[in-house]
Amino acid sequence: MAPRRGHFAAMDVLIRTLPDLAATDAFAARVAALARPGDVILLDGPFGAGKTAFARAFLRAAAGDAMLEVPSPSFTLVQSYDTRLGPVHHYDLWRLDGPEGLAELGWDDACADIVLAEWPQRLGALRPEGALTIALALGAGEARQARISGWNDRMEALR
Ligand SMILES: Nc1ncnc2c1ncn2[C@@H]1O[C@H](COP(=O)(O)OP(=O)(O)OP(=O)(O)O)[C@@H](O)[C@H]1O
Ligand SMILES: [Mg+2]
Repeated sequence: MAPRRGHFAAMDVLIRTLPDLAATDAFAARVAALARPGDVILLDGPFGAGKTAFARAFLRAAAGDAMLEVPSPSFTLVQSYDTRLGPVHHYDLWRLDGPEGLAELGWDDACADIVLAEWPQRLGALRPEGALTIALALGAGEARQARISGWNDRMEALR
């Protein structure tokens, strides 16, 4: 059968190896360059996978401030930042207590801005459609594998 030309399905999953923290930082900066208000970026993966490290690099790129302090929001559950992309809200949902807790954390309003969320499985049915999901897996040493899905229109730029 002749190969079909001219019609390519949108790429739906991208796998990237991030050999060290600098690679994760550079990848996060690329995601930040594509991000706009209304985007939700879900950071999946086990303890120590690099979810906060990704968020920190994203926020530093978005703010244009390489020294920006980005603590893990594991106790406050959310930290908000003013950036060149508008407000960015960084959530850590590990300790989240159900959907009511999410409302108390201003989730609905935050989703009009840019959201970064660690432990997205806590969202259950409230996981937003159209979100970018970055699932980080631990590799050997400093290596991480990122499985990227959800931004069908912008995936090509993340390759
Ligand atoms: N390639 C890499 N990408 C990201 N982090 C890396 C990488 N290599 C080493 N690290 C280190 O791994 C650690 C990742 O910790 P981080 O707090 O970002 O994980 P986390 O996924 O947010 O964990 P938690 O579930 O506890 O919130 C940091 O100490 C970071 O410096
Ligand atoms: Mg974290």
